[in-house]
Amino acid sequence: MLTGLVSSFRKELSNPFCVALDLPSWAEAVTLLSRIDPPPAVVKIGPMLYFRDGGQVGAWLLKTDLCVFLDFKWHDIPNTVSGSVDAIPGSSVRLLTVHAQGGKKMIGAARDAADTRGESGRGRPLVLAVTVLTHLDGVELGDLGIRDRREEVRRLGTLALESGADGLVMAPGDLEMARREWGQEPFIVTPGIRLPEATPLQNDDQVLAETPRKAIEKGADLLVIGRPVVKSPDPGKAWKQFMEYSSG
Ligand code: C5P
Repeated sequence: MLTGLVSSFRKELSNPFCVALDLPSWAEAVTLLSRIDPPPAVVKIGPMLYFRDGGQVGAWLLKTDLCVFLDFKWHDIPNTVSGSVDAIPGSSVRLLTVHAQGGKKMIGAARDAADTRGESGRGRPLVLAVTVLTHLDGVELGDLGIRDRREEVRRLGTLALESGADGLVMAPGDLEMARREWGQEPFIVTPGIRLPEATPLQNDDQVLAETPRKAIEKGADLLVIGRPVVKSPDPGKAWKQFMEYSSG
């Protein structure tokens, strides 16, 4: 399951933080990046930004030295997922996501396409699988036919790792189970990170939020922080607060 890639990627990270550039324009994304210090180890790009300013994002991907997480959560037939991984411009994308529910062949196709990129010198992104989205509450899980959320995470996580995923995306509350179940090898990314004083309202739609320090203690490799920083009136200050709550 584990490739030496995961351990060498861990060593490259200058800190355990990833900022989610969920912003409506590339200009705002650039401004945000200039305002947060120390720089995040990883910058996450998703459809919200890409479908506004995709041309500029694509041009940036070709030249940036930053480590990029492309979070499109692919869930499609293997041929389409494979072609999408192959189409990523440049070599700056080091992490990408697929849905574990896409199944064994789809995850394997993503992994094969990632391997082919690596072999041809275009960078080998780590393939991460999303198990159960962190915004889903009990009612919505029930609507989807999921009775035991934790068991679903365990089942889909095992399937993804056995199918070639290098790691998983999961809620902070599942981290301890994940490390018990799959050990230290998989690379684990955790969204839903909030400061201790965040009110339920400030948790947005993250029903399983956790502080940075606790998420790291529980075994997260990389913490994704979006709205608490990108929607803050003072993103630089908010970013520093997250850094401070990650240690000590
Ligand atoms: O804004 P917030 O800090 O909640 O950021 C969460 C980020 O992580 C968003 O970009 C979202 O797409 C992503 N994410 C998530 N839940 C998952 C996987 C990814 O919230 N299960």
